[in-house]
Amino acid sequence: GPMHEFLKALPKCEHHMHLEGSLEPSLLFSLASLNKIPLPTTDTAFTSPETLLRRYRAFTSLDDFLHYYFIGMSVLITSSDFEALATAYFERAHADGVLHAEVFFDPQAHTSRGVRYEDVVDGFRAAQEKARQKWGLTSELIVCVLRHLPVEDGMAMYRAAIPDLEAGRVKGLGLSSTELGNPPGKYKAIFDDAVARGFNRTAHAGEEAGVEYMASALHDLHVTRVDHGIKLTQDPAVLKEFVDAKILITMCPLSNVELRCIPSIADLPIRKYLDEGVRFSINSDDPAYFGGYILDNYCAVQDTFGLEKKEWEVVVRNSIEGSWCAEERKREIL
Ligand code: ADE
Ligand code: ZN
Repeated sequence: GPMHEFLKALPKCEHHMHLEGSLEPSLLFSLASLNKIPLPTTDTAFTSPETLLRRYRAFTSLDDFLHYYFIGMSVLITSSDFEALATAYFERAHADGVLHAEVFFDPQAHTSRGVRYEDVVDGFRAAQEKARQKWGLTSELIVCVLRHLPVEDGMAMYRAAIPDLEAGRVKGLGLSSTELGNPPGKYKAIFDDAVARGFNRTAHAGEEAGVEYMASALHDLHVTRVDHGIKLTQDPAVLKEFVDAKILITMCPLSNVELRCIPSIADLPIRKYLDEGVRFSINSDDPAYFGGYILDNYCAVQDTFGLEKKEWEVVVRNSIEGSWCAEERKREIL
C-alpha cells in the first residue's frame, strides 16, 4: 500500500544487523560445497536450503537460534567469502532504502575455527568500499564480544581489534550472544578500556533478560546505544534515565517474535517509547534467519501500530542522530 511506499522511501539507517546473520541458506549451502565444510548429518534441517528455512520458522529461543547461527557461519573461510556475504547484504539493504548501515560481526566465532581476524575484516572492507561506490551506501563495522565464551576470550579479541578501532576501520564495540546468565557487568573490564580510548559502545540487553540488564549496560558499560532494549516498561526510573541520556534503542521486531521474546509485534513498546520520548531505530538483526530485512520490519510495525507520517519522521531523525557516522554524512542523509 501507499504507507509501505512511504516507508521504503524514508532515508533509513540500520544499526542492528549481524553480517553473519545475513547468510541466506542458498549461500550457506554453496559455500559449504565450495569450501568442503561438512554440515551436520544428524540434523535433517540441513538436508537442503528449503528444509533449513523451514526449521528457522520454528525457533524456540535465542539459544535455539544461536545453535543454527554458529553452524551456518562455519562455511565462511576466505576473505572473498566474507566479501560475498557482506555484498549480498548491502545490495539487499540498498533495495530497501538503507542509506547508512552499522553492522555487527563476531570475530571470535571465526578465529576459533582458524580463520584470521584480518581476513574477516579485509573481506568486509572490500564489500563496504564497493557498496559505497556502487550504491552510495555508507557503512561502519562494529565488533561484538561473544558472551557465551569466557570474558578472557572476549578481552583477547578486543585487544586484537584495538588498532582497527583506533584507526576507525571498526567504529564501535558491541556485546552479543547468550544473554541470560551473562549480565553486562561481567564485561566491565573490556568496556572500561573502550571508554578510556573513546570508542563507541553498545550492548545487547533487554532481549530475553529484564530491564536490570539494560540498566547494567548503561551504568557498568557506559553504552550510548542498547540493542533490542524492549524492557523499559518494567521500570519507569530506568526509562527516564534512557530518555535523559538520549540512548538509542535498536529494536528488531521480527527477531523478537521469531525468538519468542514476545508473542506478537503488538507486544512491542513502540507506542509507549514514542509517547515517552525514548529514542529507537527499527532493524533486522539476522535477516536471513528471521524472515525479513529492514523494510519488512518497518512494515510490520506500521501494520500493527499505524503510526502517523510525523511519527515515522521522528523515528528516522533519531536513527540518523544516533548513528556513529560523521556529522556531515548525517546532514547528507536527512
Ligand atoms: N547474535 C546474533 N543475533 C543475536 C541476537 N538476536 N541476540 C544476541 N546475540 C545475537
Ligand atoms: Zn542482535
